[in-house]
Amino acid sequence: MSDLFSKFDDLIALREGLLSTGVTDPFNLVMEKVESPTVAICNGKRTILLGTYNYMGMTFDPDVVAAGKKALDEFGSGTTGSRVLNGTYVGHRAVEDALKDFYAMDHAMVFSTGYQANLGIISTIAGKDDYIILDIDSHASIYDGCAMGNAQVVPFRHNDIEALEKRLKRVPEGAGKLVVLEGVYSMLGDIAPLKEMIAVSKANGAMVLVDEAHSMGFIGEHGRGVAEAQGVIDDVDFIIGTFSKSVGTVGGFCVSNHPKFEILRLVCRPYVFTASLPPSVVATAATSIRKLMDSKAKRDHLWENSKRLHAGLRQLGFKLGTDEPQSAIIAVIMPDLETGAAMWEALLKEGLYVNLARPPATPAGMTLLRCSLCAEHSGEQVEEILGMFAAAGRATGCI
Ligand SMILES: Cc1ncc(COP(=O)(O)O)c(C=O)c1O
Repeated sequence: MSDLFSKFDDLIALREGLLSTGVTDPFNLVMEKVESPTVAICNGKRTILLGTYNYMGMTFDPDVVAAGKKALDEFGSGTTGSRVLNGTYVGHRAVEDALKDFYAMDHAMVFSTGYQANLGIISTIAGKDDYIILDIDSHASIYDGCAMGNAQVVPFRHNDIEALEKRLKRVPEGAGKLVVLEGVYSMLGDIAPLKEMIAVSKANGAMVLVDEAHSMGFIGEHGRGVAEAQGVIDDVDFIIGTFSKSVGTVGGFCVSNHPKFEILRLVCRPYVFTASLPPSVVATAATSIRKLMDSKAKRDHLWENSKRLHAGLRQLGFKLGTDEPQSAIIAVIMPDLETGAAMWEALLKEGLYVNLARPPATPAGMTLLRCSLCAEHSGEQVEEILGMFAAAGRATGCI
């Protein structure tokens, strides 16, 4: 019998090699208590959280928490059914209405995760004989959506407008075309030149889907994302988003103005063949989304935090993923996995949690310490974080 697990041998050896150095497993941390959007207890120690996607700090918002508790009392713990059968409650409609208002779009469809939203929308709208042209650094859920469908998949170099145009021009005459882009790329925290890319896509007859998972609530005048900030949101055919980042809970969605959009509820398998979100989750999401419509002060503070951390880390001598802060994600580039893991552990001992990211999630084989800021981080916390980076950087020889 061949062992089906032998394909994982290299990864098992890499992991064992890393752990044999005595370093704490960076992919197995337990939060013993979470006190706020920015502080948790890990290994008995107060730890500042700088590796969550809680950009707008909504997880402990009193209105959000109260809405969840109320829905739990009134509707129970789960729907135990698909959206197209017994799994649509008033709360599911209410969160879709909140999304339509938030994005000023005609249609909104909520999935159980953002992963499933990409899986479902991409695999359903791009079928046999269609072409998907996507940025090579696209999120795994976008690639998995491509793999699940039957379209031809054509990647182009990250954020390269000319490369996108060349690929579009090579698509056979008459074939359906879907260009898939992200607003913020989550590994390096860089943004896409959506204005130019969408113009090129439209000039070549393509529909455009933009995943705004990491920009919702924060980027753009109304927090609608990078497409809004660059003035091209009206040219986007489908926006994909998630509740697991700025919204502060779990779930995913697609919003669109396409007149035939609602038919997707009957043909999109990751929407039909899975249970809908629990009533407490959709209630927290709807409350959070409505509050995010009116959070300019929080957005401004988050930009301040991002600029302050980026400048401080640069001053300390760390190599960063972007020359300027472009989002709430600041990636610190590590020379290799061993140094990255040592630095990650040193930061944790200082009382700071960041994300250690490695291939295949990262581009170009990079090891990254990904810092994601929250609107609830105070200016003092950002200074404290910089002090911790200085101490850990010196202890590990990174700076
Ligand atoms: C760009 C992007 N799209 C989609 C997702 C999936 O979101 P969710 O956590 O809701 O499954 C993520 C999650 O990290 C993401 O980064």
